[in-house]
Amino acid sequence: MKNNKKIIAANWKMNGSEELMKEFSQLTPARHNDVIICPPFTLLDSAKSLLSNSIKLGAQNCSAEDKGPFTGEISASMLQEKNVSHVLIGHSERRTLFKETDYVILKKIEAAIKSKLIPIVCIGETISEKKTNKTLQALDSQINRSLAKIQPHEQVIVAYEPVWAIGTGLTPDENEIRETHLYIKTKLNQHFNADIPILYGGSANSENCSQIISIENVGGLLVGGASLKKHEFKTICNC
Ligand code: 13P
Repeated sequence: MKNNKKIIAANWKMNGSEELMKEFSQLTPARHNDVIICPPFTLLDSAKSLLSNSIKLGAQNCSAEDKGPFTGEISASMLQEKNVSHVLIGHSERRTLFKETDYVILKKIEAAIKSKLIPIVCIGETISEKKTNKTLQALDSQINRSLAKIQPHEQVIVAYEPVWAIGTGLTPDENEIRETHLYIKTKLNQHFNADIPILYGGSANSENCSQIISIENVGGLLVGGASLKKHEFKTICNC
């Protein structure tokens, strides 16, 4: 028996096309869960017109700035104009490939909140941090430097994505997920007034979704590769 709604978020990354969005227009809304799809910026308009109204729209990034001479950037207020309600911030690919620091991530979270978007803030340890038993330390530092500086009444979502589990087919075992989510929850509860949903991300798919989502303090899933296949994603949405 489900006790509460879970959040299933799809991160399409730099994938997808108008054709794929048309396929997803047939995706029937999940009955028990909140579904958010984060396509590339260029597909936001099609997503709005084609996807079921019960699916929320997310972006994969936003600028820390509101407007000005920042060629190639997109601000949170521009996203709000496109009917976006959520935005991924601090994904490990942004941290590593685009050198986003916790400070930049903090500024982006603030920009998102200012434009009334709900940030989905990604945190997670690297393989070397895991191997040297520094997982909790890494999470602690990411939370302290960005999330703990946000006003306690604000609405945010956190996605725990172990970097080594992203796109690798590897996932932490059940106990590891339970332990890490409990740690993150306890830490967030010390700061935020309301319960913050904590999603799990990293090689989630239609086969492991039910098991992962039933672990205590897992508030939902952030799905990469498996969210690009309509049937597979539908199964995940209904898990
Ligand atoms: P995969 O589900 O492809 O491992 O990607 C996870 C992810 O990065 C979601 O943001």
